Amino acid sequence: MEKRVVILLGPPGAGKGTQATRLSAALSLPHVSTGDLFRENKAKGTALGKKAQEYMDSGKLVPDELVLDMLFDRIGRADCAKGCLLDGFPRTLPQAEALAARLSGAETRALNLRVPDAKLVDRLTGRRTCRACGNIHHISHSPSKVEGKCDKCGGELHIRTDDALETVTKRLAVYREQTLPLEGWYRSRGLLSEVDGDRNTDQVFRDLERAASAAGVS
Ligand code: AP5
Ligand code: MG
Repeated sequence: MEKRVVILLGPPGAGKGTQATRLSAALSLPHVSTGDLFRENKAKGTALGKKAQEYMDSGKLVPDELVLDMLFDRIGRADCAKGCLLDGFPRTLPQAEALAARLSGAETRALNLRVPDAKLVDRLTGRRTCRACGNIHHISHSPSKVEGKCDKCGGELHIRTDDALETVTKRLAVYREQTLPLEGWYRSRGLLSEVDGDRNTDQVFRDLERAASAAGVS
């Protein structure tokens, strides 16, 4: 069977992580997030985690060579034999090209989540992430039932270090400069679907699922 690769594109705070959890189950594809992989490396204190930390904390992208080795190692594992759902990768044109070369012949669809900048700032500065399981809350859009505790596992909710306003502003600028060109790259190859991410999470999920299915990847 052909490999299926679904890519969640979109700016920081667009809802990639929130949607990926559900979409991964619906499409039966493992969720692979480069941001999560770097945070796991940081938490374990690996050499890669230490190298990535300074870039992440300042809102910059981690250099392509560090990202590509880590990502290819991850998608080379057995659970990705039939494909994967990518969240936060690719983020530069060289990353998109390297992925296409690596997965030549795979059925690929990029789903582009669109959300206005002002909403992104509110979403990121109000985000609360579970330290234990990575579940994502928001202080007003999806508050936890017990303050400071994750609804899924009861773990401690924290504010990601890169969710400070100054870093968020930098991340949005970096997105416009380095990641936005990927929309054109995927569109010109007929691989892009646009999804309005500025609605409630159920509506966004339905559209993402439909876009993935319409493209023959589900
Ligand atoms: P990464 O972790 O990928 O961060 P990001 O792209 O900046 O995206 P976020 O995780 O901030 O946002 P999201 O779209 O997942 O939104 P979420 O669902 O959480 O990367 C972090 C860093 O790692 C990068 O800055 C870079 O340094 C490095 N890195 C990672 N990948 C890399 C790569 N490929 N190359 C180089 N460097 C890389 O939602 C946000 C908030 O909004 C939540 O609070 C949520 O509850 C809320 N929300 C979600 N949906 C809705 C909705 N529909 N309505 C209202 N609120 C909503
Ligand atoms: Mg995320």
